[in-house]
Formats: sequence, structure tokens, C-alpha cells
Amino acid sequence: MPISSRLNLIQKDIKTSGDIMETVKVSASKEYIVNIGTGFLSSIGEKICEIKPLCRVVLVSDDTVFSLYGEKVKKSLTDNGFSVYEYVFPHGEESKSIENYEKILNFSAENSITRTDLFVALGGGVTGDLTGFVASSYLRGVDFVQIPTTVLSMVDSSVGGKTAINLNAGKNLCGAFYQPIAVYADCETLKTLPDETFNEGCAEIIKYGMILDSEFLTYLSKNSIRDNIEYAVKRCVEIKRDVVEHDEFEKGERKLLNFGHTIGHAIEKCSNLTISHGNAVAIGMVIATKGAYEIGMSDEDYSDVLLPILKANNLPTTCEFSAEDLYKVSLSDKKRSLDTMALIVPEEYGLCKIVKLPVEDLLNFIEKGMN
Ligand code: NAD
Ligand code: GLY
Repeated sequence: MPISSRLNLIQKDIKTSGDIMETVKVSASKEYIVNIGTGFLSSIGEKICEIKPLCRVVLVSDDTVFSLYGEKVKKSLTDNGFSVYEYVFPHGEESKSIENYEKILNFSAENSITRTDLFVALGGGVTGDLTGFVASSYLRGVDFVQIPTTVLSMVDSSVGGKTAINLNAGKNLCGAFYQPIAVYADCETLKTLPDETFNEGCAEIIKYGMILDSEFLTYLSKNSIRDNIEYAVKRCVEIKRDVVEHDEFEKGERKLLNFGHTIGHAIEKCSNLTISHGNAVAIGMVIATKGAYEIGMSDEDYSDVLLPILKANNLPTTCEFSAEDLYKVSLSDKKRSLDTMALIVPEEYGLCKIVKLPVEDLLNFIEKGMN
């Protein structure tokens, strides 16, 4: 069944447990629950007890997040009988490195962590990706739990099982598909996020409306994401769940989630990472949307819909690089084959499609998208 039809069914799996928690079940190579609520972090130990026998826990977090929430999570885990070994690393993308990966593996071995123990990732996408990759490979696979604390990690990186570290040659070049055993998204943690980081995550939320959910797109055009963050997180997780269940290993439809990312990555690279991922994706979505219309891949110019939503969420829509600069950098994208580039472009309002563009047409596509 195509994803667009299946989306009509997904509300059925949503249920409310207790007073604060919404749950979304993901059935991929592992079955797990994404729990979404506000203000439950101090009882996280009880919740993990429900899904995992008492064991040793390697709690991985960056210094910023650990200083805000680490002790609360640690206390709840220890109060419930888990033995906690914390591994805290400097915040930032640079920490998603092979050196840090190796350090966590050694830390785990030195503390005699076994295959029946647990890794817990407390933080944003950097922490989740790094911890997930450690969990996938330490002793050939140990359970892990995601506690995402950024908008981006709640709506995207904590769900679906992509884990990775960066290599000198590029981002996310070494990783594994490895699903967590549970995800706990406490929206209370988003209150301490810098505005800029919050907004960046909104780019990914808007992406979901553009690629697969016209109703949600309309909702976003009329409502503030910040004021409705719990609903927005839940809706995005539902959509991502549906995509992942259909195409866990990204053979086809999962590529839709890369809308705005090919040109976005080029923008990030051209800026030497001074333009953040979320901001770059926002601009990338605009270029892909306008470019697709201008070269006849889309019947309508859906940038008329996209631009006001991005602006309302304080996201940029243009950049200063030339089309030529972005084109050159885009050529090194992972989604490129010898002669073609897979691009995600709007097909209808709230629905995207995957197209293969001959590489020689890419410059024209970007130029038109930037006009
Ligand atoms: P991040 O983990 O670096 O977090 C951003 C910053 O916010 C960090 O400085 C962090 O310390 C801080 N922070 C996190 N939570 C906070 C909170 N509640 N309060 C205050 N500060 C907080 O970055 P991110 O934007 O969450 O994720 C980006 C990473 O995710 C990239 O490495 C990207 O490749 C990856 N990613 C992975 C997937 C996937 O499917 N696995 C999808 C999208 C992105
Ligand atoms: N963030 C893209 C994916 O999970 O496939």
C-alpha cells in the first residue's frame, strides 16, 4: 500500500497512557514504543524498568545536556535499581567522531558492560547517533534507549534506527541501522533549548508536512509550532514511523525524508558548518521546490506554501552562495550515482516524489531554484 494511503490509518495506533504520555508503536526489525509527553523525566527509571530487567546502564550525554538533566535521569535510574555509569563528552558535531566512539567502547569494556546491559542516549541527534552506533557494535549489539532533548532528535533522529559517526571524508559515513528498544521524548526539556536550535528542528517538522501530509501542512500554515510542540512531535513521529515500517533500510520511500537535504548539505559544507543543519535544510527545501517547478517537475509552485511557514518559524529561505558553488559540492552527495542524482521534489500539495535528475541538469535546477 502506498504511504499516502497508509497515512490515513496511522491514528489508530495512537493511544494515551496515563495523563501525560502519548505513545506511537514502531514495528521495524525491532518493535518499540515512542513515548511523548511533558515533565516525566524524573520518573524515567520506572518507565525503563517496565521494558528492561535491572542491569548496568551506560548513560551517554553531552556536557550541556548532562548539566541540565543528567543528575535527574541518573537519580531516577539508580532509585529504581539500575547501576549507572555516565559518559559525558563535549557538546557539538565534532564529538560524533571515531575517537569518541572508541572512547565509549573502551569505557564500556573497562566497566564490564555485558550484552544484557543497556546504553541510554540523553541529548540531541549527536548523542543519539553516537550512542546508537556504539550500542549496535559493542559486543555485536546491546539494547539502547533514546531520550531525545532537541526538536530535531524528537521528530527525526531518535526514531527509525539510523545511527552513525562522522569520518574526515564526510558526515555519517560510518554507521548502522539499529533500532532502540524505546524512545522517551519529554517536551519539557525543549524549554532550555536556545531559540535557534528550537527553530532548526522546526525545519524538519515542516519537511514532514511537505513530503507526506497535506492536512498537517495546512495545520502548520495556521498554527505556531512552538505553541503546539507536543502535537507536532507526535504527528511527525507517526509519519516517520509509517515511512520506516515501509522501508526501514532506505531502499526507496525512506529517501523522501531527505527532502531539502541534498542542497542543504551543500549549503552546510559551503558555509564550513556555520549555517546549521536545520537552517540549511530550510533553504534546501525552498531551492528544491522552486527548481522543480521552474524545470517542469512540479505542476505548481509550492514555494508559495512553504515560504510563509518557514518565515513564521524564523527560518531562513535564501543563502549567499552561488548556484555554481552549491552544484560543485552537491556532486559529492551520497545520493548521487554515476550519471544521476536522486532528488526529492513536490508532486502535489503535501506530497513529494523521488526523481532522478541527470547530473548535467543539476546546475540548471539549482539556478532556477535560487531565482
Ligand atoms: P545536537 O545533539 O548537537 O544538539 C544541539 C545543541 O543543543 C547541542 O549543543 C546540545 O548540547 C544542545 N542541547 C540539546 N538538548 C538541549 C536542551 N534540552 N537544552 C539546552 N541545550 C540542549 O544536535 P541536533 O540538532 O539535536 O542533531 C543533529 C545531529 O543529528 C547531526 O549529527 C545529524 O547528522 C543527526 N541526525 C541524525 C538523523 C538520524 O536519522 N539518525 C536524522 C537527522 C539528523
Ligand atoms: N533522517 C532521515 C532518515 O531517518 O531516514
